[in-house]
Amino acid sequence: MTQDTWNAVDRYIADTLLPPDPALEAAVKSSDAAGLPPIAVAPNQGKLLHLLARAMGARRILEVGTLGGYSTIWLARALPEGGRMVTLEFEPRHAEVARANLARAGLADRVEVRVGRAIDSMPGLLDEGLAPFDLVFIDADKEGYPGYLEWSLRLTRKGSLIVADNVVRNGKVTDAASTDRSVQGVRRFNAMLAAEPRVDATVIQTVGVKGWDGLAFALVVADP
Ligand code: SAH
Ligand code: DHB
Ligand code: MG
Repeated sequence: MTQDTWNAVDRYIADTLLPPDPALEAAVKSSDAAGLPPIAVAPNQGKLLHLLARAMGARRILEVGTLGGYSTIWLARALPEGGRMVTLEFEPRHAEVARANLARAGLADRVEVRVGRAIDSMPGLLDEGLAPFDLVFIDADKEGYPGYLEWSLRLTRKGSLIVADNVVRNGKVTDAASTDRSVQGVRRFNAMLAAEPRVDATVIQTVGVKGWDGLAFALVVADP
């Protein structure tokens, strides 16, 4: 009961609940064609992000780690009229692919792709008055997660939701002695969630086309 089964069930879920979507399919195709790594969230995970954003009525969304804009499209589609999304990406080539995908999806007017190290871009969002964000999705380099959480707390408000991808990493997250910097980053992130009085959080393990991993959900319970 491993990867093949998980793939089959993800396919079943997509066939059952996710209608064909030309803009999302084009985003995956163009990202592959441009040689971007195939590490976007799975379709059912993208839809989870979308539903969370809609359920919350999120009007301002921040994403850390754009890649080709696949998760960006799911999230930005949840925005109401006048809503805005900012997504942070280090690689100019990824940002360029993402901008084209967002334009094709009809979302260019609502989403800004900001190029640079996310940790350097985040202070500017505060200075420019773009905060507070209602929803933050953290999905860039895993070593950076502790810093992204610190800044997410400055960029949100009581009632905001912070979601983070890849917090289980094939179960490696339980290895305190791991020398993998990504694992250490994620362990530190989870420990920060546990110790941080401004959030109430959980982690859900996931299996599927992305292998075995997990998503963290942290509700901000106090103003910065
Ligand atoms: N959220 C995307 C996947 C993101 S993959 C989706 O699900 O569709 C992670 C992305 O983070 C990559 O594009 C990588 O270039 C970017 N990244 C890595 N380090 C970064 C950094 N320091 N600042 C901003 N982005 C970074
Ligand atoms: C990797 C990054 C991700 O965000 C992800 O969802 C899967 C894999 C990676 O860097 O390998
Ligand atoms: Mg990820």
